[in-house]
Amino acid sequence: MVKYVVRGGRTLHGEINIGGAKNAAVAIIPATILTKSVCRIENIPKVSDVTTILEILEELGAKVRLIDDTTIEIDTTNFRNAPAPYELVRRIRASYYLIGAMLGRFGRAQVAMPGGCNFGSVRPIDQHKKGFEGLGATVEVIEGGYIQATADKLVGATIYMDVVSVGATINVMLAAVLSEGVTVIENAAKEPHIVDLANFLNSMGAEVKGAGTDVIKIHGKSEIHGGTYAIIPDQIEAGTYMTAVAAAGGEVTLTNVIPKHLECITAKLIEMGVDVEELDDSVIVRSSGVLKRTNLKTLPYPGFPTDMQPQMASCLAIARGTSVITEGIWDNRFRYVDELKRMGARITVDGKLAVVEGVTAITGAPVMACDLRAGAALVVAALAATGVSEIEGVHYIERGYEDIVQKLTGIGADIHRIEVAEAEPAILVAL
Ligand code: EPU
Repeated sequence: MVKYVVRGGRTLHGEINIGGAKNAAVAIIPATILTKSVCRIENIPKVSDVTTILEILEELGAKVRLIDDTTIEIDTTNFRNAPAPYELVRRIRASYYLIGAMLGRFGRAQVAMPGGCNFGSVRPIDQHKKGFEGLGATVEVIEGGYIQATADKLVGATIYMDVVSVGATINVMLAAVLSEGVTVIENAAKEPHIVDLANFLNSMGAEVKGAGTDVIKIHGKSEIHGGTYAIIPDQIEAGTYMTAVAAAGGEVTLTNVIPKHLECITAKLIEMGVDVEELDDSVIVRSSGVLKRTNLKTLPYPGFPTDMQPQMASCLAIARGTSVITEGIWDNRFRYVDELKRMGARITVDGKLAVVEGVTAITGAPVMACDLRAGAALVVAALAATGVSEIEGVHYIERGYEDIVQKLTGIGADIHRIEVAEAEPAILVAL
């Protein structure tokens, strides 16, 4: 078992280089299936979700070549139309992008029901299904828990999304690129990685217009080609380090960011008394560690991102006064709160609402990450706490944060990644 041991209370100073966006990479990598040639992708984040999606592609016949630390080449010439194996698919939610991409290329996809962080009673895919069916596919769950999508021919159509969904918008974009005619996605998601995927597809000869607005129009092409593309910087990785500096105090420059993508986070941190200076492709965050209360509500982009909600809760836990957090995307994204409470935070959760009563200090404790951003929130809290925290469940954190321990160490944090022997189950110990 691996855990992070964090001795809190150190202010943070220096520079962190932000990696490529995980949620863009896990969409762009499956999108390479749509061409029968080679794509070179730069600014690939070194996180386990990306490794998993690459393993799935390799398992199905793609050739993946590492060019340097953050650049890969994917050759999908011999990609096979075979079922995507459960053992790999279950590890990440984004494996459902294989359905859109394989349906687009072969008119047929069989993908095991995906896994990933669980913050709802279920994470529905009805809007993905609605989109595929709108393009003329038949979608069903078949034996072995596989989702099967088949179509003799995909034909462009107008698809109205009943909820704003990042995943469904991306999946319909993927399926529509090689379809006949024009597809219009109404009430589309507008997140930066939707725009990044559209830019990638267009660089390969697709015709996707309107990404970043509510309406995306895709003119189907008979084929698209390979090329070279650089993934955008990770908005959430940058936002997470911004909250770390806000909570622990100090001055840190985050390089390789798009400040515009961070505006929703920057605005909230400024309300809390943090100084954020935007430069061309970097931001400087300065904080005394003394924070003011605020309220926040998570919403689809350009609203405040749900993937930053737990990290902000760690900041609000030590802010002066009482703050209210409203989760507007997921049903069950406050599971980390019990762990923050073990560190002395005063938070009451009622459904999709959390009331955070700021305390003057939180203290280190043994805590357990229950998902990716929950884990990030515990790291932020541990950096600001007095004393030592031991964070378990770090495999969740490493799904989405590259070199987090090295990056934090580089700005003066006292954080170590240690391997410990798994404890014997109590029953065996008793025997
Ligand atoms: N929804 C439906 N039906 C659908 C799809 C979604 O009702 O068919 C609902 C969901 O239940 C949820 C809302 O729509 O209430 C938004 O879900 P969305 O489809 O936008 O989420 P996602 O595509 O599954 C992506 C990110 C998540 C991030 C959400 C929201 C990836 C790989 N994942 O998930 O990121 O929380 O968008 O912004 O892009 C993370 O990185 O930690 C993470 C979980």
